[in-house]
Amino acid sequence: MTAFPTLIAQISDLHIKRPGELAYHHVDTAAALSRCVHELNRFWPRPDLIVISGDLVDTPAKEEYDHLKTLLAPLEIPFVAIPGNHDDRGWMRAALPEQPYVQPDGALNLATSFGDLDIVLLDSSVPGTSHGLLDADTLRWLDAMLGGAPKRPALLFLHHPPFVTGIGHMDVQNLRNAADLAAVLRRHKRTRLIAAGHVHRSVLTMFAGVAATICPAPNHAVALDLDARMPPSFRIEPPAFHLHAWFPGNDFGDAVTHLVPIGDFDGPHPFFGPHGKLL
Ligand SMILES: [Fe+2]
Repeated sequence: MTAFPTLIAQISDLHIKRPGELAYHHVDTAAALSRCVHELNRFWPRPDLIVISGDLVDTPAKEEYDHLKTLLAPLEIPFVAIPGNHDDRGWMRAALPEQPYVQPDGALNLATSFGDLDIVLLDSSVPGTSHGLLDADTLRWLDAMLGGAPKRPALLFLHHPPFVTGIGHMDVQNLRNAADLAAVLRRHKRTRLIAAGHVHRSVLTMFAGVAATICPAPNHAVALDLDARMPPSFRIEPPAFHLHAWFPGNDFGDAVTHLVPIGDFDGPHPFFGPHGKLL
């Protein structure tokens, strides 16, 4: 591994409301995002790019996108964003005109790159519903895009996880056509990571032979409820984001995901004293 990875920070499920409104009458998602932006701006080394993996706003409403833009204005790092089930494609497209979406209408898919690494974002939202689906145009575009540069590694982002978590009320609204995505990924074996959101928790698994993650949220967490009889609920847990580090190397390099807690914590404290002696 080299000492200079490409760093992609992923933040997810911001659920921004109108100014002064709380999500679920309880969570100040605007304050949570501001703390997250502060954490991203002070993180060193600075991430090359931020991916926002859906649910940028909550209702959705145009005023919420206006509020989102105000809250993101202090962010000193470029970002790309895809919708989740709480977003509206039309309002999101209008609010973020600089985003390089490949289609003039429909799904908000995009691809960008850093040096030898491709970063692919898929719109898995379905207008008017909570579950996810990749439409035919999206799957066709992904197939052509991955097939067009078979030697380049890619990181893939989408809102809805294409796998179950064991949290029943979330699993029923994950990606419905995960098998279609798996078929594309198996055809072009250059994806090193699949990174989702939606569940507001840090999760790690494998999908179609590729490492797969869910990003935690800066606000509330879906309760870790693996008993399907429990009513759906959320908890205020330590806020965090994911930092995906990609190291160039053989066989498409290595992708490593770090969980970064948001907040002020004791430290850093040195391990070693002035003469290299362990303290
Ligand atoms: Fe969601």
